[in-house]
Amino acid sequence: MVILSGIQPTGKLHLGNYFGMMKPAIELQQRGTAYIFIANYHALTSVTDPDALRTATMDVALDLLACGLDPRRAVLFRQSDVPEIPELTWILSTVTPMGLLERCHSYKDKIAKGLSPNHGLFAYPVLMAADILAYRSNLVPVGRDQKQHVEVTRDIAMKFNAQYGEVFVVPEADIREDVAVVPGIDGQKMSKSYNNHIELFGDEAETRARVMRVVTDSTPMEAPKDPDKCNVFALYRLFASEEERGAMAERYRRGGFGYAAAKRALFDAMQAYFRPFREKRAELAADPARVEALLRDGAERARRVARRTLDAARRAAGLA
Ligand code: ADP
Ligand code: TRP
Repeated sequence: MVILSGIQPTGKLHLGNYFGMMKPAIELQQRGTAYIFIANYHALTSVTDPDALRTATMDVALDLLACGLDPRRAVLFRQSDVPEIPELTWILSTVTPMGLLERCHSYKDKIAKGLSPNHGLFAYPVLMAADILAYRSNLVPVGRDQKQHVEVTRDIAMKFNAQYGEVFVVPEADIREDVAVVPGIDGQKMSKSYNNHIELFGDEAETRARVMRVVTDSTPMEAPKDPDKCNVFALYRLFASEEERGAMAERYRRGGFGYAAAKRALFDAMQAYFRPFREKRAELAADPARVEALLRDGAERARRVARRTLDAARRAAGLA
């Protein structure tokens, strides 16, 4: 089975990104051939500072490798190292009905948020279709926000196949409904655009300060508390074992346990969870040539497959 997942390098990754997308993507390397790439062509629709894009691209590679992506199992690469993708995007765009793209929520949402309505933003789902179809992906695990894009990909693949013969594998989306939304320090969905996030590998003092600012209600210290209504507990449970979670819930319910103590426990659990990853990350960051070599090796493996698919599409369409 071929599994594919892409991550946009648009800034420092936070706990929501880790539990919502990186951790599940890393776990996929056990289930088949996983292609995991850094979607820098896609990021170009929102990141316009070249140095920021380069830095964010390398940061995502370091974060993935530090958090357990094994480059011997999974194929890790930069999207822009596979020039077959933009060529395939063009071919696919000629079988993509305008109406299909006009219906995409994510385009409309981005325009509403103030991004300039350029062609890249509009054609974004076709580029994503090229990513998915190039590697003959069977399964595409995505968050709910990306589900429609996988449906667009299926439509495009079927349209091309109907017109020119069976070239593309029609993929399935794997929607992770079970991954709960990670709350931010204000209790809303954690997102860098709300500035309520906690970075994965942020500065220790800054991380502590953010944890201590997590919003709680005003139940007095002595009173019993409901863990299931508390943002601190919602974050703590992500790092805790089943037993630790139970013990913490018990402390909440018993009373005499204040939110400041819960926040300290959250901070400690988070630091302990990420410590080995942080060490691994520092080691990798000290050797950028090694990371670059890994990305190039991944790109070579990815290109071999993308080339075969592109050649088949070119032949089918009469370009070769
Ligand atoms: P941000 O909202 O910070 O800009 P992105 O939209 O770039 O984050 O997130 C990329 C992916 O990370 C999302 O498609 C989603 O799968 C995951 N993700 C982001 N925030 C959260 C969250 N708070 N809880 C769960 N998953 C999240
Ligand atoms: N658009 C995806 C996101 O913003 C990233 C992405 C690009 C992707 N190409 C992909 C995800 C192909 C899955 C498959 O999260």
